[in-house]
Amino acid sequence: MWNTIYQAPYKINASGICRVLYSTKSTTAVPRNVLENVISADKQKENGAVYDKKPFKILLETGKNYSWCLCGRSKKQPFCDGTHRMDQLKISQKPIRFQVEETKEYWLCNCKHTNNRPFCDGTHKSKIVQEATSIIRQ
Ligand code: FES
Repeated sequence: MWNTIYQAPYKINASGICRVLYSTKSTTAVPRNVLENVISADKQKENGAVYDKKPFKILLETGKNYSWCLCGRSKKQPFCDGTHRMDQLKISQKPIRFQVEETKEYWLCNCKHTNNRPFCDGTHKSKIVQEATSIIRQ
């Protein structure tokens, strides 16, 4: 849905709170994971640890498979490096496999709380993320 005031896409969450996904006046479509209907890992309820409180801009290529870190513990952010498999860390989140619709630069979420995995949707500005201790600052 599009917010006619901000000219931006928005979502209404379970509490009925409207949240603008992008605050710019850009007419760019909201990025989506081409694999969203075939990858069940995207349905995971829990978010990972806040890695950083801002997104990461990166050039992604259409047709390539990517694996976005959801647990927040990877050393190759924003991508998975397999850290979630370390038994001693008891991590329940799995990476999100994704592809993009076109080759261009995308903002990938680093706070691990986006509602549009793996793309940043502005959730990093929320109180819960801003008050969290990020892994990058530890
Ligand atoms: S970094 Fe923007 S929503 Fe996570």
